[in-house]
Amino acid sequence: MLRTTANSLFRLAAPRSTRAFATKKADLLPPLKVAVTGAAGQIGYALVMRIASGELLGKDQLIELNLIETEAGMSPLSGVMMELEDGAFPLLSKVSATSNLNEGFGDIDYALLVGASPRGPGMERKDLMAANAKIFAEQGKALNESAGINSKILVVGNPANTNALVASENAPDMWPEQFIAMTRLDQSRAKGLVAEKANVPVKDVDRVIIWGNHSATQYPDLSHARIGGKWAKSIITDDKWIRNDFIPRVQKRGAEVIDARGASSAASAASAAIDTIRDIHLGSPEQWLSNAIPSDGSYGIADGIWYSVPTVCEGDSHYRRVKNLPIDEYSAKMMNATEKELIEERDSVRHLLPGHENKPVSWNMLESLHDAYVAGETDKVNKILSDLPPEYAKGAEQARASEASS
Ligand code: NAD
Ligand code: LMR
Repeated sequence: MLRTTANSLFRLAAPRSTRAFATKKADLLPPLKVAVTGAAGQIGYALVMRIASGELLGKDQLIELNLIETEAGMSPLSGVMMELEDGAFPLLSKVSATSNLNEGFGDIDYALLVGASPRGPGMERKDLMAANAKIFAEQGKALNESAGINSKILVVGNPANTNALVASENAPDMWPEQFIAMTRLDQSRAKGLVAEKANVPVKDVDRVIIWGNHSATQYPDLSHARIGGKWAKSIITDDKWIRNDFIPRVQKRGAEVIDARGASSAASAASAAIDTIRDIHLGSPEQWLSNAIPSDGSYGIADGIWYSVPTVCEGDSHYRRVKNLPIDEYSAKMMNATEKELIEERDSVRHLLPGHENKPVSWNMLESLHDAYVAGETDKVNKILSDLPPEYAKGAEQARASEASS
């Protein structure tokens, strides 16, 4: 069944409700369901404890955790379950472990798709494609059948951008924008290096952007970055450092960690996953946060790939991309290189992309509808409604009329 009904479309386009925050300590919010795949792995282990302690969704939010593993992972997972129990986390209302995807994704609000093979020394992340992409095809199908209607899915397993594409394409009743591939770790790494270079606390660095793929072609961009509110490039004036040290270091930081640790980053990856979902859930409207989301043609980037861009997380599970930033010639070249790699990755997994036709309406269209509606731009609202397929437009108009009269 197509779950994106006209009313749910309109709900997304209508003015956003404010999240009902608990006011007193005793007012814990009813449980939200969070699924984590690969929960017994390195990242999973670091992740679930922090989710249980309230760092993902807030200290007033009860949580049901669905931990998903392979059959072989069930034994170590039982140890993780014991540790969760022994942690006596007050916000954890229920924990379950399963290798059944439909059970694990049943009615979830958030899923963190971590379970996949990590790379070893000397490998690129795309070398994991053959082993990992099919996992995300299966998980996309199960999410489509079982996940909650407003769920958000964070893809961490590598190659993350293309895995997100594969999962989304196998979930035809879900919005592509429900799937996000994680590039927050790259952004945090970049901020750390800038803070070190400028000798300031990392909290003083913002608007660093990661464009494109979570791979060695990503473009960590300081063109719009700020340090203590000032343009970063007026403080870090050494362009050679930016091009020859900073950019390659961020691009290859994952490999640097693997070489040093003998295993890929785990605690910092869990941290970045927590940061990503926390900001999407609770909002962080002042920040530009890098997330790989389905391209909408902005910045001339091809449609149909998950490309990291700056986003603003408005809370209540809504995010929007930062648009119309000026792009200089060097940045354009770097952005095109990582786009090219993502297109090649997409082409290499064509066999896992069923190519559904029933996604006629994009979230971007609805965002424009929402913005025009809130701004009272009646002509624009009517134009967008007339561009929607009739079955959507009729329902959206009815919902708008009933909203206006209530
Ligand atoms: P790990 O090997 O320690 O753990 C992976 C876990 O996933 C294992 O317990 C395994 O049993 C489980 N698993 C495998 N296939 C599964 C499936 N189909 N369903 C459920 N569980 C499954 O690896 P890790 O260090 O936790 O890394 C996990 C993934 O995250 C890797 O692909 C790694 O490259 C990626 N990663 C991404 C980022 C990022 O920034 N996007 C950062 C770090 C790591
Ligand atoms: C990372 O960036 O640390 C992860 O993607 C793991 C890896 O393979 O580099």
